[in-house]
Amino acid sequence: MRYVMKGGNPLVGEVVIGGAKNAALGILAAAIMTDETVVIENLPDVRDINVLLEAIRESGAVVERLDRHTVKINAQSIGSITVNNEFIKRIRASYYLLGAFLGKYRRASVALPGGCNIGSRPIDQHLKGFRALGATTVVEYGMVNAEANRLRGGHVYLDVVSVGATINIMLAASMAEGNTIIENAAKEPHVVDVANMLNSMGANIKGAGTDVIRISGVRKLHGTEYSIIPDQIEAGTYMAAAAITKGDITVRNVIPKHLEAISSKLMEMGCEVSEFDDAVRVVAKHRMQPTKVKTLPYPGFPTDMQPQIAVALALAEGTSIVTESIFENRFKYMDELARMGANVKVEGNIAVIDGVKRFTGAEVAAPDLRAGAALVMAGLAAEGCSVVEDVEYIMRGYEDFEGKLRELGAEINLASTDKDVQKYKLSLIG
Ligand code: EPZ
Repeated sequence: MRYVMKGGNPLVGEVVIGGAKNAALGILAAAIMTDETVVIENLPDVRDINVLLEAIRESGAVVERLDRHTVKINAQSIGSITVNNEFIKRIRASYYLLGAFLGKYRRASVALPGGCNIGSRPIDQHLKGFRALGATTVVEYGMVNAEANRLRGGHVYLDVVSVGATINIMLAASMAEGNTIIENAAKEPHVVDVANMLNSMGANIKGAGTDVIRISGVRKLHGTEYSIIPDQIEAGTYMAAAAITKGDITVRNVIPKHLEAISSKLMEMGCEVSEFDDAVRVVAKHRMQPTKVKTLPYPGFPTDMQPQIAVALALAEGTSIVTESIFENRFKYMDELARMGANVKVEGNIAVIDGVKRFTGAEVAAPDLRAGAALVMAGLAAEGCSVVEDVEYIMRGYEDFEGKLRELGAEINLASTDKDVQKYKLSLIG
């Protein structure tokens, strides 16, 4: 699948942000840790979520979609703690089923996770955490197996700040015997959201959102109704779209506090950013100013916003430096951006970006989810038509991306065949 677009329109208007994908993935895994019914609201309708729901259904749980954004799960009938279908390998968050099954059933066997190709993505910290709870872990034949006769609380010091490991250990430890302490824990809003969800099921987790999380294990978790927080990165992406297209966009249904790193960077670059109770407005009247960006764990600047901000900087008046300190392979899209006329040099984990006055339309391919979204926005700022290939990546994490962009005034269409591409190009030029 491809997006075909004609650039040049400033994006203007309002966009409503959906539930946080990366919180939802942990929350869906948490939902199977009780035999009672769990209702989850504000679930984004994106591919990664739908793949995980399918895996949960295949393990024997009853999964009922009440509407596009609400799902009811009852895991009483789970018959298998082995998850290994061709889809689950493609998503990273399959690893949350390890923590959830290990906590509830003391055994889990899950295919080694895939996900976006943004660098080597080890799970050693997850396994270290499970072992600290008394589990044995074995990786063989493409599967991760974890097992514990007695799962008991433990002390885990994470060597790297890892969102996935923090959530996974929290899941398992919620139902372990005794107390667990996770030090050097990730502080991302989605870590806090998964902890809140588990607490609403009867877990006893304190300190989520700080470096130290304390968990007192409980024997049983119960049913709940829970609404997922808004997606910080979806919101940030549309905020960057305003900067990239010299537009005026209000993102609604957000928690402005979660967007502070992004808002302050955009202000530094010359955008006007106004915060409301549950909305943020970004107005870009002039060409952006260059700056330095370094990705860091929350509350630092998110790695999932690195490509979007870099695209904005590639149109700025001067030289910017972007340092990627979380994933070593997250600059692959720079070659594609160069085809649109960007002037970029990547050395290791540092990109030096000399801003250009304009991009010109080109055919490019999305290398991963966030870079894919960033390339689309570059195409929307470029002169003439652009085609972004492999947009399946984008669909993993953005609900109705082209629809929301069209509402903001973008000229963009989804095309599956070469004929469609030609047809849309002609209609866009005409
Ligand atoms: C989560 O990935 C997100 N994915 C990513 O979002 C996001 O980029 C990342 O957190 C950082 O915020 C999901 O939530 C499903 P990490 P995760 O463990 O949990 C190293 C998107 O676009 N590490 O916080 O896999 C790792 O290599 C995606 O939505 C270990 O060394 O990331 C990295 O350098 C892409 N050992 C750093 O830690 C481990 O056991 C942070 O990774 C685990 C991680």
